[in-house]
Amino acid sequence: MLLSAFALNGFSQLPEETPEQKTERMEWWTNDRFGMFIHWGLYASPARHEWVKRYERMTNEEYEKYFEIFYPDLYNPHEWAKKAREAGMKYAVITAKHHEGFCLFDSEYTDYKVTNTPIGRDLLKEWTEAFRAEGLKVGFYYSLLDWHHPHYTIDRNHPLSASSDEEYKKLNKGKDMDIYRRYIKDQVRELLSNYGKIDIIWLDYSFPTRKNYDHGKGNNDWDSENLLKMVRELQPNIIVNDRLDLLDVDGGWDFTTPEQYKVSKWPEKNGIRVPWETCQTFSGSWGYYRDEMTWKDTKQLLVLLIETVSKGGNLLLNVGPTARGIFDYRANEKLEEMGEWMKYNNRSIYGCTEAPTEFAPPDHSLLTYNPETNRLYVHLLDYPMKWFTLKGYEGKVKYAQFLHDGSEIKFGKPRHNVTHQEAKGKEDVILILPMVKPNVEVPVIELILN
Ligand code: GLC
Repeated sequence: MLLSAFALNGFSQLPEETPEQKTERMEWWTNDRFGMFIHWGLYASPARHEWVKRYERMTNEEYEKYFEIFYPDLYNPHEWAKKAREAGMKYAVITAKHHEGFCLFDSEYTDYKVTNTPIGRDLLKEWTEAFRAEGLKVGFYYSLLDWHHPHYTIDRNHPLSASSDEEYKKLNKGKDMDIYRRYIKDQVRELLSNYGKIDIIWLDYSFPTRKNYDHGKGNNDWDSENLLKMVRELQPNIIVNDRLDLLDVDGGWDFTTPEQYKVSKWPEKNGIRVPWETCQTFSGSWGYYRDEMTWKDTKQLLVLLIETVSKGGNLLLNVGPTARGIFDYRANEKLEEMGEWMKYNNRSIYGCTEAPTEFAPPDHSLLTYNPETNRLYVHLLDYPMKWFTLKGYEGKVKYAQFLHDGSEIKFGKPRHNVTHQEAKGKEDVILILPMVKPNVEVPVIELILN
């Protein structure tokens, strides 16, 4: 009691760290910008959303058939890792356990785990080794929700959610969340002890009770502070997301996680910009969804990545492998096409961030900036005409080139005649571009600044 009262008053039990130390701990992540999310579990078999158990209100018995049939015979995590690397991704986060409660790893604390399915192997272990071998940083997603554990109380998001307080009381009789809280800690301890250095942990998620009747779960239900304290003890350099419901606790999270939408500007907390990572799907669902057809096209995905970096953030892009253990052909196609762009243009992504305010983005373009090299990147989303004006850039640019082929872009001279409608102002720079768009989905101009 006393301890948690102190914690609430700001005497957090979490290790203290200066802002500079935090920046340093997160440096690789801030630099790398682009990662792969992987949602893979029993829900790959029904293939109609990772929330299928909840959406169709299935009981454990009804869901059991997916456990009995789980046999991803084509699983080759080396192939996955290679695809991620070739797409330009530098880190990856996989679901060790999602809301359904199934564990993709060999846990001492449950039978509901991959080693007891027909495949009979610790697939998470293989994954971790394969991704590391390919040079990627590795992270685990661990669901705080659990729709299988007998002591996890039924709440409003549970497959068996009730419609009255009475009913909840009846359903939850005999359940002991203390046991479940211990289970979370035991499993997270396993994940952070038995698999070597883990770079990221994604603990997902909280939905606090807003009114005393709406049956949510928040930091008290997870014992979030003690859980996080354990995480930091086991892996002092790990990077942690913000879904433990500890937003107002010092050290309670490392980065914020806007999901499936674009932020309008760099997110702030109390007026200060915070590290952020947007997580996004190729199509609507996180788990493999056979009949979901709303796939984003490659240009949309590239713009998503560029725009994210232009506002100082990271992109975690999700793949939902099939029940056979392979990526959907559309995911492969998008990854390859993004990789083709990244191969020639990644200098405008890695190590880059929002441009200094003195540089206004020209029409139909997005800017990123590398503070180390002092280079500015103009991403041409809609290819312009030959004369391209950089308003207010005069005196600031030493050299201009296309990034994909390193070819010089010449500066234009001011022209004061009728054909040049917008005469160059004294403060502007004009670039002379080729009339035909280069053979690149989104061409990038690299400006070497003075
Ligand atoms: C939400 C969903 C979940 C998904 C996650 C990704 O929390 O519940 O299915 O894993 O978002 O951020």
